Amino acid sequence: MRNESLNHESVPAGLEQFVPPTSPATSGHAAGTLVDKYGRHITYIRLSITDRCDFRCFYCMAEEMEFLPRDHLLSLEECLRVIRTFVAMGVTKVRITGGEPLVRRNALWLLREAARLEGLKELVVTSNGSQLERYAAEMVEAGVKRVNISLDTLRADRFKAITRVGELDKVLRGIDAAVAAGFRGIKINTVMMRGVNDDEFIDLTRFAVAKGIDLSFIEEMPLGDIDRSRADTYFGSDEALALLRPHFELVGSSESTGGPARYWRIPGTRTKVGFISPHSHNFCDSCNRVRITCKGELYPCLGQNDALPLVPLLRAHPDDDAPLRQAIVDSMGIKPKGHDFNEQMHDPKVVRFMSMTGG
Ligand code: 5AD
Ligand code: SF4
Repeated sequence: MRNESLNHESVPAGLEQFVPPTSPATSGHAAGTLVDKYGRHITYIRLSITDRCDFRCFYCMAEEMEFLPRDHLLSLEECLRVIRTFVAMGVTKVRITGGEPLVRRNALWLLREAARLEGLKELVVTSNGSQLERYAAEMVEAGVKRVNISLDTLRADRFKAITRVGELDKVLRGIDAAVAAGFRGIKINTVMMRGVNDDEFIDLTRFAVAKGIDLSFIEEMPLGDIDRSRADTYFGSDEALALLRPHFELVGSSESTGGPARYWRIPGTRTKVGFISPHSHNFCDSCNRVRITCKGELYPCLGQNDALPLVPLLRAHPDDDAPLRQAIVDSMGIKPKGHDFNEQMHDPKVVRFMSMTGG
């Protein structure tokens, strides 16, 4: 692993101009703001709090998964410390993911504590929906602003085939519980797969409209080794948009949630339809995020294998955040300019599953 400090000495010749000024006085940004060597501001972290999940979606996991022993995970106290440190450095949005974050015992404790941190504007969660019937109201009470819920199909048999073990009804009840709980935003995430669910994009959009919630269609990413070629089922955003157009009035929206999606509004409804296009519309230039795995590895880029282990720092300096802060600043030096999932579709370079890095 390379671990270059963010200073002019360590930058390859010719790239000095891309290194932001280190002095807050000259950079015009608040002290402690995280800026990578391409000038991108890091204001958003995604933290996976468990690699475990009660589903086994075939594009995300192997059927027989070996999960990490519990003592390899960041404790929830360590998770909070990592979040607190990033927020103190200018991060304003935190997404808690998994695996399925709500299967981690005491996940609500972490949500409650994190929501209280001064400077954190948006605490959001990605969930498969299976536990929302039980937790949605508590999450809202804890201070979670928005939730993304994975839903690839509305057909029970298909749902079982995709998730291998999941119950569609339970997730639908979870979505209703989320609507009733009063989140500021709810979004369905649908992974597009040719021959698997491409005949349901219209129904899924109608479903989102009926519930008054948003929906994002996601191009499948080559994360983790699965027992089929992802290229066979790849379905691009532009084709999906063309498929929806005859059925819905779609008005381009400049609105951004700080994410890589492009959005269309459906007038007369409360629904926005988004397309997350890691293949067809590379969004690396505006990347504002880093990811932290449940093992405490900081991944500056979802599509690359470079990571910085935070656990040794957390455990060697239990009462001093300064080494952790320094390591985070240094990690900005290994954030790459971008990734190329198209190249990786046939020859996956990234061996991590999404459940490890966090969706
Ligand atoms: N490609 C695209 N999306 C994926 N997800 C999990 N694995 C992949 C993948 N390989 C999705 C989940 C969830 C979101 C966080 O990421 O379905 O909706
Ligand atoms: Fe679980 Fe989400 Fe992976 Fe499906 S995609 S197995 S719900 S973590």
